[in-house]
Amino acid sequence: MRRLVVMVSGSGSNLQAIIDAQADGRLPVEITGVISNNADAYALTRAANAGIPTSVLSHKGRKRSEYDSELAYLVSTIGADLVVLAGWNRLLSGNFVSHHTTINLHPAEPGKFPGLGAIERAFDAWKSGEISAGGVMVHYVPDEGVDDGPVIDWKPVPFSIDDTLETYEQRVHTVEHELLVDSINIVLGQLPPTGA
Ligand code: GRF
Repeated sequence: MRRLVVMVSGSGSNLQAIIDAQADGRLPVEITGVISNNADAYALTRAANAGIPTSVLSHKGRKRSEYDSELAYLVSTIGADLVVLAGWNRLLSGNFVSHHTTINLHPAEPGKFPGLGAIERAFDAWKSGEISAGGVMVHYVPDEGVDDGPVIDWKPVPFSIDDTLETYEQRVHTVEHELLVDSINIVLGQLPPTGA
């Protein structure tokens, strides 16, 4: 069974989607750990409720290169074939991604609205007539690029005429939850055979 470490910073609804998919057999993995850079993340409660070991490693006051090396070591001690960034809000340098196959979820189409606040920025762009649909994507994280890297899968999220930020955001999350699980399954099929 492939081992998954999930890294989170916030509410963890996407972590929950992974936990649920694992529990009902849609995701054939062992979730070996959940790591957060934020001790207050509700995602940690979700993990604990599911019996998954959690770790907190705060980045506050840390030099990025040193923090990322420590994080990479922590993931190695937990054991992971794949690291999933599910609402992880911090850029990762080569000191991390050169050690672990890492994928990231971003609530926008490939190439659009990199960085934090993507849902709000997409909504504002739709309101001002610049775009007609938003999207969500999952991509590999090969380097320090912000929400950039080979795309594993993505889906458009259309706007409705009566959308508020809240209704759009809700729809984005619903699409994310499905896309993330599907994308992890795609990546599991692309990983080198165990022992290779
Ligand atoms: C998601 O919209 C994700 O795409 C973005 O942060 C949000 C995390 O939500 N990077 P949750 O913590 O999984 O509920």
